[in-house]
Amino acid sequence: MNNHSDLLDFRVIADTRGKLVALEGDKEIPFSIARIFYIYTCAASRGFHAHIQTHQVIICVSGACTIFLDDGKQRWQYRLQQPHQGLVIKSMVWCEMHDFTPDCVLLVLADTPYDESDYLRDYDEFLQLAAQKNER
Ligand code: TYD
Repeated sequence: MNNHSDLLDFRVIADTRGKLVALEGDKEIPFSIARIFYIYTCAASRGFHAHIQTHQVIICVSGACTIFLDDGKQRWQYRLQQPHQGLVIKSMVWCEMHDFTPDCVLLVLADTPYDESDYLRDYDEFLQLAAQKNER
C-alpha cells in the first residue's frame, strides 16, 4: 500500500431487501464533500491528470475498472469492483482509469468545487511539480 492512496471499506447495511451503504463527509469520507460526479458507459480510458489541491474518493458502484496511480516516485494500481470500497486519491497523484466493464459506474466524491485550474493534465508538468513537492 502506498501512503498516497488508500482503500476505504464501508459498512454495508444488509437485510433481506438488499444492501445499503451510507456515506457522510468527515465521517466515512475523510473530508467535507463539495462535489459529486459519476461516470458511466465508458468506452475508452479516462483521467490522465492529477489535482493540485483536490482530494477525491472513487467508488465503483457497479461493474469494474482499473485505476492506475502515480505519485511521481511510484506507480501502483487497483482493480475496483466492490461497491462497498472507496479509493482515496490524494492531491498530486496522477490518475488513469482503464479497462471498464460495460456496466461500470464510478461515483466520485471531491472536497472542492470543479475548477479547471486545479488540474494538471500534462504528465511532464505533473512530474516536475511532484519532484518539487517531494524535495520539500
Ligand atoms: P475530465 O476531467 O476530462 O474527465 P475524466 O477525468 O473522467 O477524464 O472531464 C470531462 C469534462 O467534464 C470536462 O469538460 C470538464 C467537465 N467536468 C465538469 O464540468 N465538472 C466536473 O466536476 C468534472 C469532473 C468534469
